[in-house]
Amino acid sequence: MAIASIPSLYRSTVGKKAIMAVTGVLMVLWLIGHMVGNLKIFFGLEEFNGYAAWLRTLGAPALHEGWFLWVMRFGLLAAVVLHFSTAAELTVRAKRARPVKYQHRAKVNGSYAARTMRWGGVIILLFIVWHILDLTVGTVNPHGVHGEAYQNVVAGFAPDRWYITLFYVLAVVSLGFHLRHGLVSAVQTLGLKNPRQDKALNVIATGFAALITVGFLIVPISVTLGVVD
Ligand code: HEM
Repeated sequence: MAIASIPSLYRSTVGKKAIMAVTGVLMVLWLIGHMVGNLKIFFGLEEFNGYAAWLRTLGAPALHEGWFLWVMRFGLLAAVVLHFSTAAELTVRAKRARPVKYQHRAKVNGSYAARTMRWGGVIILLFIVWHILDLTVGTVNPHGVHGEAYQNVVAGFAPDRWYITLFYVLAVVSLGFHLRHGLVSAVQTLGLKNPRQDKALNVIATGFAALITVGFLIVPISVTLGVVD
């Protein structure tokens, strides 16, 4: 049997789905780290800002300050761009395969999930742009001081800015749905799915997505409710 070359694998639908699965898994690993790091806010200003400073000096003295962070940022950006562009290509391909619209669009799970994934993905992307301007660059944050992550979070989700927290809730819940469906799809694409374990896979994916959603949202909600100030 001939082994497919890398370019032909890249062009194939299966290859594109594998790219989505692998970049998705990498982003999930990063998300787990980010969520756990955020929870340090409950241990106070010094511990949270100390953790943010540690991220900048990771790899020292072999690496100069900030280098690790930049490698991580470029890796993450590459994963986001590949994930999003491959999703767009797969959508175009699916539309080309069926140029005539269905007269009566059957309400099958597949098309509903695909639409949710598309819109969810767009909401998450817009959220990331806002979030970086808010808590990394600081331009849309009332405090917005570089290196003062704790004060930026507390100012950003202050009680009178409840609408920002609401926007975060919408985005992170979208992320939760995206993760749940994405995880099941990734397991399927990577050939790890066993039909006898469908139910277990759904339960695990739902539980994991719920954990990530709650783990992220507990921070802005606690600030808005005045539990963290
Ligand atoms: C909802 C609760 C969240 C909180 C409280 C939070 C908090 C933060 C903070 C404080 C920073 C800046 C870190 C620093 O200054 O060193 C940051 C950066 C970032 N966050 Fe979040 N985050 C949340 C959710 C998310 C989610 C759901 C995503 C992705 C979907 C995300 C993606 C990012 C990215 C990409 C960065 C930039 C990392 C960098 O380049 O330094 N965050 N976040």
